[in-house]
Amino acid sequence: MEKKNIDWANLGFSYMQTDKRYVANYTDGKWDEGGLVDDGMITMSECACVLQYAQTAFEGLKAYTTEDGRIVTFRPDMNAERMQGSCRGLCMPELPKEQFLDALDQLVSANAAYVPPYGSGATLYVRPFMFGINSVIGVKPADDFQFRMFCTPVGPYFKGGVKPLTIRVSDVDRAAPHGTGNIKAGLNYAMSLKNITDAHQKGFDENMYLDPQTRTKVEETGGANFLFVTKDGKVVTPKSDSILPSITRRSLVHVAKEYLGLEVEEREIYKTELKDMAEAGLCGTAAVISPVGKIVDHGEEILLPSGMNDMGPVTKKLYETLTGIQQGKIEAPEGWIRVIA
Ligand code: PLP
Ligand code: COI
Repeated sequence: MEKKNIDWANLGFSYMQTDKRYVANYTDGKWDEGGLVDDGMITMSECACVLQYAQTAFEGLKAYTTEDGRIVTFRPDMNAERMQGSCRGLCMPELPKEQFLDALDQLVSANAAYVPPYGSGATLYVRPFMFGINSVIGVKPADDFQFRMFCTPVGPYFKGGVKPLTIRVSDVDRAAPHGTGNIKAGLNYAMSLKNITDAHQKGFDENMYLDPQTRTKVEETGGANFLFVTKDGKVVTPKSDSILPSITRRSLVHVAKEYLGLEVEEREIYKTELKDMAEAGLCGTAAVISPVGKIVDHGEEILLPSGMNDMGPVTKKLYETLTGIQQGKIEAPEGWIRVIA
């Protein structure tokens, strides 16, 4: 298979239409068989539930080319399961895990020419999503739903790749107590658009959201979980019911313990502890691990000792081990890699 003529090394994190996408429809209380289609446009009622009441959830995962030329995906069963949880939270039907994985295999195989080559620094980002499609005017869930999965080749989520980021402590809350912060609902991202636009205008790369109840504990950013390294070399990551359970973060916890022999704590992290951290990073499918160099809390600057030029040493080891596993250079734990081709 011949690869597309794309400048892989200079891709940003943006949408490029690929050849095929997967569509399945839920009507009369059941999913159809689903399959690949050419058309990337969607036609629906002006009164579709997703358009009026934002009944939609999504996922994000990546396909990689390994050192030995295979195309693989990373822990897609976890995305399938998390999506089922998001759907339950939004009164949408669960897509069976087997259908999700089959859709992924079909989608990535059909778009293999868009999977960036090994060593290019780019990856194929896969975006599964589901939404209520029939017209609904009173506030209630839709009856009919569409599940889709498309893919697009991407470069780093943050411009500058692995250059340390500057983030600010947000005045806006991302998720209400007992709300939807722990599911991947589109509405969580809609509410963050004004805040991220404001952050960018003021020169920050991301917002650090605090716990909505007390505003004293670190939660996550708009699109990634946090990972910190303490001065005595411990990896610490926030535990909270209102953050998205990141698959990258859960994988890194395993990597830190089992591959690097590090001590890991998942616990509440107070904002007052930030000044004592040695390293900080944002972790997620899109972010991979993006180092944080500076945290600004209303004029007070916290400079991480790892600085503004490079990743801290522990973050770097975590990054290299995780990406090594994803690219087939380091043996993966059982079940983490799904070979597509
Ligand atoms: N937190 C938020 C709000 C996200 O949007 C994402 C991205 O999916 C993550 C965390 C990281 O999750 P994952 O590692 O599963 O991609
Ligand atoms: C992902 O990492 O897959 C996400 O969904 C985050 C989003 C901000 C791109």
